Amino acid sequence: MVKICCIGAGYVGGPTMAVIALKCPDIEVAVVDISVPRIDAWNSDKLPIYEPGLEDIVKQCRGKNLFFSTDVEKHVREADIVFVSVNTPTKTTGLGAGKAADLTYWESAARMIADVSVSDKIVVEKSTVPVKTAEAIEKILMHNSKGIKFQILSNPEFLAEGTAIADLFNPDRVLIGGRETPEGFKAVQTLKEVYANWVPVDQIITTNLWSAELSKLAANAFLAQRISSVNAMSALCESTGADVTQVSYAVGTDSRIGSKFLNASVGFGGSCFQKDILNLVYICQCNGLPEVAEYWKQVIKINDYQKNRFVNRIVSSMFNTVSNKKVAILGFAFKKDTGDTRETPAIDVCKGLLGDKALISIYDPQVTEKQIMRDLAMKKFDWDHPLHLQPMSPTTVKQVSVTWDAYAATKDAHAVCILTEWDEFKSLDYQKIFDNMQKPAFIFDGRNIMNVNKLREIGFIVYSIGKPL
Ligand code: NAD
Ligand code: UGA
Repeated sequence: MVKICCIGAGYVGGPTMAVIALKCPDIEVAVVDISVPRIDAWNSDKLPIYEPGLEDIVKQCRGKNLFFSTDVEKHVREADIVFVSVNTPTKTTGLGAGKAADLTYWESAARMIADVSVSDKIVVEKSTVPVKTAEAIEKILMHNSKGIKFQILSNPEFLAEGTAIADLFNPDRVLIGGRETPEGFKAVQTLKEVYANWVPVDQIITTNLWSAELSKLAANAFLAQRISSVNAMSALCESTGADVTQVSYAVGTDSRIGSKFLNASVGFGGSCFQKDILNLVYICQCNGLPEVAEYWKQVIKINDYQKNRFVNRIVSSMFNTVSNKKVAILGFAFKKDTGDTRETPAIDVCKGLLGDKALISIYDPQVTEKQIMRDLAMKKFDWDHPLHLQPMSPTTVKQVSVTWDAYAATKDAHAVCILTEWDEFKSLDYQKIFDNMQKPAFIFDGRNIMNVNKLREIGFIVYSIGKPL
């Protein structure tokens, strides 16, 4: 029986390994982590992450060929293939701070693999890493190898949160990069056979190591660039009377452009787009390519512009002040169907409103009060560096409340801001919400999910991204 161990039981490690266990009953999969609460949660009825379809799979496989453990060294020692799926945040201090990837977690995992291994292993980069990371990891592994052979592969993950299970079941492609040596080809083939249990072989792309590493950064940069492009257009739509939904539909029907990922929004969030583009920018700068770096930096600049523009729109529409006005925030997660708040645009919007002394009342179906308060107290990029947590200032605490009900959040509010496209927000009773709000009652739809005309008929003053005012 092939044994797989995955270091890092997070949003990628957990679902990816659960699907491998489900699709490959002959493989024993152990997911390990240094975080005791996280592993406890994986072994409980309340999994540490919310992802549609995940719970069923975990229940089917857990205890049979899927195990969650904090005994990292034991499982690494016993494994034939070790996936490394630890976090690779943006550095907050030192060389490259605010841009470069912090590979501390990766390096410590690699050193541990080298220390505890007693047999040959394939080590798979699952985390998103800067191009050429495998070279550094190889040096660490080989340096301590005691004659043990390691083959390093790059197998970046392309799943999106909220649809992780569907993405893992039917990936557009699986990408595996390896050394172009007989041993490298053999390792690539071994990993390919794992995926071939459910992925058609013509969808398993094999490349050299550096192409695989760079393709991941490139894919995220291209995806984020589409959102910044349509968001840039949304600003122009508002100035000209064009409607961004109509424009993106018209543009997206060109089969060379395609219709996906063209929804204008308050800005993209999530743990990866910004981090990976900043990392790409840094790599370009380090390689003496300032023009290329500047090009990709614009994707982030437009995203920041879009979030600021949204806050400015709220404040200016509400007679230039939101001081002491209750503003209801519907949705805090970075997208629907997840409880993940990493880099969610809601953080920037809420901080902008708090800066203007608004009283904000937040409702999200999957995000806890504790999480929201933590997020609002944190500095940029600190979410992935738990040691930097700081308490929220007492004034800010007074300005924020979190509810478990959209109607409570909107009661007596002057404005409602929709920041996540949760389906349930579309079917709320907006007449009831309007009746219980201060007048004039404003709605700012940061996701373009609402029927603007219907809301205007009720009496709301409505602002929807990229739509005629
Ligand atoms: P995460 O923070 O949810 O999980 C990482 C886990 O690694 C944490 O539980 C942490 O405790 C653990 N860890 C860190 N160092 C460790 C060590 N030395 N030993 C054992 N465990 C350790 O992160 P994630 O969202 O799963 O992302 C992981 C990687 O995958 C990142 O590089 C990210 O860019 C990439 N990625 C993420 C997504 C996504 O949707 N979240 C998608 C594709 C790729
Ligand atoms: C993204 C990529 O889609 C995955 O392929 C990749 O594996 C992952 O990043 C990663 O590397 O972490 P994810 O961040 O989970 O996945 O979710 P997306 O669906 O890509 O959404 C990202 C953000 O963009 C969300 O805030 C979403 O609301 C926003 N978005 C998305 C838009 O504003 N408009 C769109 O048209 C699409």
